[in-house]
Amino acid sequence: MFSEKVRSIDISGIRKMFEGAGPNAINLGLGQPDFDTPEHIKKGAVQALSEGFTGYTANLGIPELRQALCGKFEKENHFSVRPDEIIVTSGASEALHLALSALIDPGDEVLMPDPGFVSYSALTKIAGGRATGVPLDEKLTMKPDAVNECITPKTKAIILNSPSNPTGTVEKKQEIKALAEIADDNDITIISDEVYEHFIYEGEHTSPAQFSDNVITINAVSKTYAMTGWRIGYAAARKDYIEQMLKVHQYIQACACSISQKAALAAITGPQDCVGEMRDSFKIRRDLLLEGLSAMGIRCVRPEGAFYAFPEVGDKDAAQKLLKSGVIVAPGEAFGNNGKGHIRISYATSEANLKRALGIMGKVL
Ligand SMILES: Cc1ncc(COP(=O)(O)O)c(C=O)c1O
Repeated sequence: MFSEKVRSIDISGIRKMFEGAGPNAINLGLGQPDFDTPEHIKKGAVQALSEGFTGYTANLGIPELRQALCGKFEKENHFSVRPDEIIVTSGASEALHLALSALIDPGDEVLMPDPGFVSYSALTKIAGGRATGVPLDEKLTMKPDAVNECITPKTKAIILNSPSNPTGTVEKKQEIKALAEIADDNDITIISDEVYEHFIYEGEHTSPAQFSDNVITINAVSKTYAMTGWRIGYAAARKDYIEQMLKVHQYIQACACSISQKAALAAITGPQDCVGEMRDSFKIRRDLLLEGLSAMGIRCVRPEGAFYAFPEVGDKDAAQKLLKSGVIVAPGEAFGNNGKGHIRISYATSEANLKRALGIMGKVL
């Protein structure tokens, strides 16, 4: 009765862990900041409500938000777009779905990091495509050579995610430039998922759209401003990409939530101190976690961004064992075959929780 496409995707391996957790478990499985949305952003939403801004908006998103995003891309990401080259979506998730739906015909291949964010392969399959994992190197980076080796005549897109979920890796500028050249040479689109761009502790963020216009840049206010529940993301790309993505968006979504768009406008145009404060506290927690892991002798590539560490624990049942002892982490294989033997630890939680969890890990692992 159900489609082959839907049967071919699994319930997320992370979700399964939550279902098995006790009420007092320490949750290091979450993919969201543990902070509340800043007040000035909430005020944007309250004002929208009190002004009755509760109807459909333009399909592409409210013009003032798209205009503000043009300024953000120019200033922070060093590339220029016009407001009609931006679409506001229901989270980065919808933007990924639109990009893949617009590009993929049945049997087309999408290259993606393995391990990589769980949605990439599922959304590729939903779009009718085939997901090809690009093995990461020993530093958990996606090397241009490794990408080159995976390209076939069927390859339509490469998904790049720096800083990465689940590894925390930040790709270097020269590697991103090389990837952009590969995309141009092979007429392949880069889908660049930049949702963690503001959480970088060493190194710097590079957008491939600086180097190529065969790029769909995807981002969201979700992580940057602690707004995961508001469901606002956005994509920037050449107008021909946005026009095709808009066709899908207008039928499945019509527009992103009007009230949340006003909150996102307040986030993008308002004071940015809240972002720096979150980044500073994530850095302290990252260092605490890395120290704890290293004291246990657990090998972990130093995550330079996002709020995840991806240590190699060598035990495929580690996540289950930790769960039984009251610590929720995501099993590495949830992120692809090459994630086996690892766990993903989210350190978007209090230092007290991290310390308690490290104590338990020391006994279990
Ligand atoms: C790499 C990455 N991309 C996209 C998303 C989805 O973001 P949103 O909540 O804006 O849909 C997530 C959420 O965990 C993520 O980790």
